[in-house]
Amino acid sequence: MKQTAYMKKAGLLSIVGAVLMAGVPSPAAEDLVSRRQADMKAMAAAAKTISGMFKDPASYKAAEFRWAADTIRDKSGAVLSGHFASETASPQSKAKPNILEERERFARIANDLRDYAVALDAAAQNNPGSMPASMRMKPGETMGGGPLGTHVPNEQELSAMPAEHAFHLMLQTCTTCHVRFRME
Ligand code: HEC
Repeated sequence: MKQTAYMKKAGLLSIVGAVLMAGVPSPAAEDLVSRRQADMKAMAAAAKTISGMFKDPASYKAAEFRWAADTIRDKSGAVLSGHFASETASPQSKAKPNILEERERFARIANDLRDYAVALDAAAQNNPGSMPASMRMKPGETMGGGPLGTHVPNEQELSAMPAEHAFHLMLQTCTTCHVRFRME
């Protein structure tokens, strides 16, 4: 059958329509995007709290430090990965599509983040009073690895290193994930 120009155009329009429809995020997807972005913001605020106490150890309060570490602990690991478990094409999201293709790597980084947060929680639990020098990095102490070439310490290494060192490695974990999985 010979298609008229009109029929061709109508066919094309319906394809365009279908593509547009598929790209419209459902309310549930929008909720998920807002939730995971809110979690990220809460983790950033918590990291800032901890950073402030290392900068000014006199301001250290174990309970607050712990609360911040626990905030990151509870929003990382499987919880974090779970927020990115399915395709949520949303104009609001800066998540890259390669998260789905590289799920294992994404989950591993999310778990590393959790391990660091657990180590920070333990440090605060062990030091309920003022911040001892042992929690802080010694001048010139090497951090090891860059944001892209991190050696992830095992549990023993983690508990042996000063909390401040673990904290810096934790921040590198944020960067490692963002560089690979978040749009500019
Ligand atoms: C395993 C990967 C991963 C880790 C680890 C991670 N992030 Fe993110 N982060 C993302 C992705 C992906 C986005 C984009 C989410 C979106 O827009 O849907 C994001 C977005 C953000 C945002 C922007 C939120 C917004 O309102 O749009 C902030 C702030 C942030 N992350 C902070 C952090 C901090 C601080 C850490 C470490 C304590 C961290 N992230 C660890 C993957 C990660």
